[in-house]
Amino acid sequence: MDAAYLIDVGSLLLRWLHLIVGIAWIGSSFYFVWLDNSLKAPTDPELIRKGVGGELWAVHGGGFYNPQKYLVAPQHLPEELHWFKWESYSTWITGFFLLGVLYYSQAATYMVDPAKAALSPAAAIGIGLATLAGGWLVYDGLCRLLINRSLLLFAALYFAFVVAVAWGLTHLLSGRAAFLHVGAMIATTMSGNVFFWIIPGQKTTVAAMQRGETPDPIHGKRAKQRSVHNNYLTLPVLFCMISNHYAFTYNHPQAWRVLAMILLAAVLIRHFFNLRHKGQVAWQYPALGAALLLAVFVELAPRHAAPAAGSPAASLADIQPIVVARCTGCHAARPTLIPAAPAGVLLDSAEAIRANGPRILAQAVQLKAMPLGNVTGMTDSERERIAAWAAGGYR
Ligand code: HEC
Repeated sequence: MDAAYLIDVGSLLLRWLHLIVGIAWIGSSFYFVWLDNSLKAPTDPELIRKGVGGELWAVHGGGFYNPQKYLVAPQHLPEELHWFKWESYSTWITGFFLLGVLYYSQAATYMVDPAKAALSPAAAIGIGLATLAGGWLVYDGLCRLLINRSLLLFAALYFAFVVAVAWGLTHLLSGRAAFLHVGAMIATTMSGNVFFWIIPGQKTTVAAMQRGETPDPIHGKRAKQRSVHNNYLTLPVLFCMISNHYAFTYNHPQAWRVLAMILLAAVLIRHFFNLRHKGQVAWQYPALGAALLLAVFVELAPRHAAPAAGSPAASLADIQPIVVARCTGCHAARPTLIPAAPAGVLLDSAEAIRANGPRILAQAVQLKAMPLGNVTGMTDSERERIAAWAAGGYR
């Protein structure tokens, strides 16, 4: 078995696992924020005496459930207590390995864009890793400063920070690596919240109770702040994670602004759901979110690159040398730039080029997604030749 195949199998298994544990994590985040927002103060004096601050009834899978939330903590610790942490840790671990297999082990192809910055692969990886760690430090500092201030002030400052990072990364790395690292930075922050604050806070509370002391409510308050943040960050992270399939988003000259608009839309839409759980219906938020998305997608619509009037027609014979020079380093049975031809696209014969004509037009002219990171230095006039060949019916 060759190395390229093993990388493929490894990335398939990691990606699959990453999705499964990510769904478990985000699913429980959605569930608990819904639960918290839907609780009603109990009327039963017995519950009030026990210290229950909110409860609700739900029916699911043929059974009735009656979760109750205690103010600070119950008087007696139950013998068995369920913790929610491995959903988060395993999502981070699988995600980090996936980043390693896909991006860090092939940084020259996937992370470096010579048109933006002539970085060595090691420098690109260093920027990536520094983004993950730095993102956590800045976020954590903001939270400590603003724990008693409004969520809105925090949100505005953190959003400005994320946009600044997106601006920086889109000027240093290839578009797809930049978007992915913004997502990985936010996701690392979310796991950091669980690892450094939420779980330790809960442990301190439990330990105080085991000593027979009344736990300090600050731990619960901090954990709540962080877990609400995590909830708002879920949709933005998910967009970043799927963005690498959509070159038109990260190849825009102001890709950082595109990302900012999409992330803001995602947060507004999440806010709608969080308010709705509390019984408020505020359509202005998703309406604004939808308007932002519409504005982005209209702006990004490909302008059909018609060949300049009077430009000479191009034949397959004119196109083939361009494709050989710019594409077959990757898209060939035996590529030289990467281990195996990506997406199963081979462009190493005249027939294959003709058969893939519309895809070549889409990727190299309309989306400018190819050559990946323009590592082979394709010029605009070469793209125009391809447009002319397409206009002539790919002959
Ligand atoms: C450095 C390597 C590299 C070079 C050079 C390169 N590609 Fe690609 N190409 C890729 C990778 C990687 C993918 C898979 C894209 C993905 O994972 O999103 C891909 C995917 C494609 C696809 C399939 C896209 C889809 O979603 O259907 C087409 C078509 C394509 N490339 C055309 C080209 C053309 C045309 C050129 C030359 C102008 C080119 N590529 C140059 C690496 C490269």
